[in-house]
Amino acid sequence: MTDTILITGGAGFIGRHVARACLERGHKVRVLDSLIEQVHGDKTEADGLDPEVEVVVGDVRDEAALLRALKGATKVVHLAAEVGVGQSMYAVDRYVSVNDYGTAVLFQQLIDNPVRRVVVASSMSIYGEGLYRDVDGNVHEDAVRAPRASERDPWDPTDAQGRPLVPVPTPEWKRPALASVYALSKYVQERLTLTLAPAYGMEGVALRLWNVYGPGQALSNPYTGVLAIFASRLHNGQPPMIFEDGRQRRDFVHVEDVAQAFVLALEHEKAPGGVFNVGSGQDRTVSEVAELLGQAMGRPIAPEITGKARVGDIRHCIADISKIRQELGYAPRRDFSEGLAELAEWVAKQEAKDLVQEARKELEARGLVA
Ligand code: UD1
Repeated sequence: MTDTILITGGAGFIGRHVARACLERGHKVRVLDSLIEQVHGDKTEADGLDPEVEVVVGDVRDEAALLRALKGATKVVHLAAEVGVGQSMYAVDRYVSVNDYGTAVLFQQLIDNPVRRVVVASSMSIYGEGLYRDVDGNVHEDAVRAPRASERDPWDPTDAQGRPLVPVPTPEWKRPALASVYALSKYVQERLTLTLAPAYGMEGVALRLWNVYGPGQALSNPYTGVLAIFASRLHNGQPPMIFEDGRQRRDFVHVEDVAQAFVLALEHEKAPGGVFNVGSGQDRTVSEVAELLGQAMGRPIAPEITGKARVGDIRHCIADISKIRQELGYAPRRDFSEGLAELAEWVAKQEAKDLVQEARKELEARGLVA
């Protein structure tokens, strides 16, 4: 069945790929995007969107713009959001306003103009620390890391006896532990969707995304994902700056696999009411990805390990993707080294302003890196 899909924040990195995947499935696509400067620079038009996509320029908090964008839409993908964990800890009003008030305005309009299904982009950051196992094999759902009093203290969370905990894949049933304003705002977006959609006869689905990478990520945005930040540093001949000791683990998932997950969430009969992790199923350390990216870009510049942590950051969180595999048939297809080679090729053709140093100063001035 062909749908008209409204993608809020659809001119962004993930949105453009979701739009393309929806078009390939024969759907009509409309995008509502405010083209914020931190992501889009001084451009006034959406770049990189397929020409068949209808674009409404406007803020998700603007009722009139939303009403225009919702006209005739049968499904919604809600991506409009501020995305930086570090920045969320000082730009609090902006993050809460765009992410939470924005979602509230969207639903306020949907009450009178319902669609069949709403798919919201939630985040693995809502888990806080992922799931861990101790040396005796017990699973820990509530790991937190103690503040480090000295250089010798471990970065990893430990159990009550001070023994190291080892990260294991985190499934959807793990309780949320909201460690940043960003995480809190994403959880609110997720819950608003899963509470309000069924209350008004709509279907709600939440996808908890891990660390998305791929061509098209905003390179000059110093608060974007770590791979784009590293790419921009290396492109400018600068060493990647690594927080902590670089051994923190994440799951880096290619944006095309994420687009596949959105299509499944939009179309699959088993998706409604569900929350689903979206990752690649493979975890890597931040140092490893810095090194591999340097090699892929032909700029093997040794990273700078800062030994400092960003306030609000978690240590490890790796994805258990068995639920989305089993229930929706999701199958990540993109190999990491091929994905890096493709990213390197794309970056080589871009201009990327390196604003990372300034962003770090901004966080340091506020005591948010220690
Ligand atoms: C990221 C996304 C968030 C998404 C989440 C899902 C961004 C900005 N954030 O958060 O939207 O919901 O994944 O997993 O895309 N790091 C460095 N040096 C840097 C920047 C980061 O070492 O210059 C480290 C961080 O300290 C952290 C890791 O890299 O340990 C990942 O950071 P980041 O890319 O910001 O991702 P998340 O915080 O995981």
